[in-house]
Amino acid sequence: MTNDWTTFGVDLHLDLSAGKAAGEGARAALERSLREAVRSGRLATGTPLPATRALAGELGLSRGTVTAAYEQLAAEGYLIARHGSGTRVADVARPERRAGRGEPARPRHDLRPGTPDVGSFPVAAWLRAARRALADAPPAAFGYGDPRGRPELRAALADYLGRVRGADAAPGRILIASGYVQALGLLARVLPPGAFAMEDPGLPFHREAVRHAGREIVPLPVDASGADPSALPTTGIAAAVLTPAHQYPTGVTLHAERRRALVAWARAAGAVLLEDDYDGEFRYDRQPVGALQGTAPDQVVYAGTAAKTLAPAVRLAWLVLPSRLVEPMIRAKRYADFQTEALGQLTLAELLTSHAYDRHVRTSRARYRRRRDLLLTALADHPVEGIAAGQHVLLPLPPGAPPESVLLQRAAARGLTFGTLTEHRHQPAPGDPQGLVLGYGTPRDAAFPGAVAALRELLGAELPPVPRLDR
Ligand SMILES: Cc1ncc(COP(=O)(O)O)c(C=O)c1O
Repeated sequence: MTNDWTTFGVDLHLDLSAGKAAGEGARAALERSLREAVRSGRLATGTPLPATRALAGELGLSRGTVTAAYEQLAAEGYLIARHGSGTRVADVARPERRAGRGEPARPRHDLRPGTPDVGSFPVAAWLRAARRALADAPPAAFGYGDPRGRPELRAALADYLGRVRGADAAPGRILIASGYVQALGLLARVLPPGAFAMEDPGLPFHREAVRHAGREIVPLPVDASGADPSALPTTGIAAAVLTPAHQYPTGVTLHAERRRALVAWARAAGAVLLEDDYDGEFRYDRQPVGALQGTAPDQVVYAGTAAKTLAPAVRLAWLVLPSRLVEPMIRAKRYADFQTEALGQLTLAELLTSHAYDRHVRTSRARYRRRRDLLLTALADHPVEGIAAGQHVLLPLPPGAPPESVLLQRAAARGLTFGTLTEHRHQPAPGDPQGLVLGYGTPRDAAFPGAVAALRELLGAELPPVPRLDR
């Protein structure tokens, strides 16, 4: 017998059929099934069990059978029966399902790039915006909708991206995806045949996502002026994927000359440029560099994400598409997941139109700028690059320095970790320049000075001091 029951707010699937088939009596089958549910953690400590009469009715057993099973499990220590408050699950040792929820332990000082300070997520502003957005939402917002995403959010983004990033965005050409990685995968499915040129070094996960979608990857070299298309062929490539505002991971800004060269290459190759503007809002020392897309909207797909400004868990990203890609992308999105979850979209639209998003970005920018300044002060004896923007810098290792792998090991002994240039290369080769990719987003504010101190001590012990000329 298989039954679902709902009482006292708990919903539990109990399968008594296996034991019964093996000749087990109903009471033994119920005991075994409950014991297994408690042991495995499916029934958490303190969970109230249904009244014996209710469970008996649900399972088609006599009340006496259920009472006897409860008493047996109470005697074994799995349940606690309290007069007046019913029977609850006891606190028993078991594989802990909640502790860590399967997340790997983080090192004490985490300076890997990629994750913002998730502790500074604007909970109060988000809740206010969600309450207002859901109260005002038309009933249709809770149904199936346009695969491009909620019109409220697309309109709000069109305004925001034009105002803040100089993008050429009309709501009809915006598509909301579940994170940049989904957007990348959809484009890989939709664009005409051909390889994807991807920055080298670049984020390995995004290369894997493109490969997973069945595309070949061609390395796109990066130097001090950013991505260099001069060696790219003009046949056989469908897209070049770029991080123009703050190259990931070297931190260079794409030079004006290269912006022109890339657009010219894309025109000649009949390819698109995918502009990954992942941290474009975080620019510290001068005016933000406008989006490349604003200069060539037919050639460039613009991609933004909430992963750095709000939190990776929000899973909202947006594409601004050339007109010819709108219909194919709608089709691909529909078959991927029909549409991105709508309630978060309504909330983000409200954050944008109320300008709470701008206020949050401004506060975050000031926070990350303070962190960057603290990091640069601590690293005054070491040249670092890519400091004008974003949430990470690159510290190229000077000749004679210990290799990245040795520094990582010695850092681990201090509870410290960071990224490396080599892990971002398409095909690392001996003799490649090495470097440390130092993210300053991840630690909580209170933990950040400790992380920087650990880094300074490591570098003081391991690297020769090289006074920086830029200060
Ligand atoms: C280079 C780069 N692009 C984009 C993203 C955002 O990805 P997503 O929106 O899928 O979280 C990240 C996040 O770490 C990133 O490092």
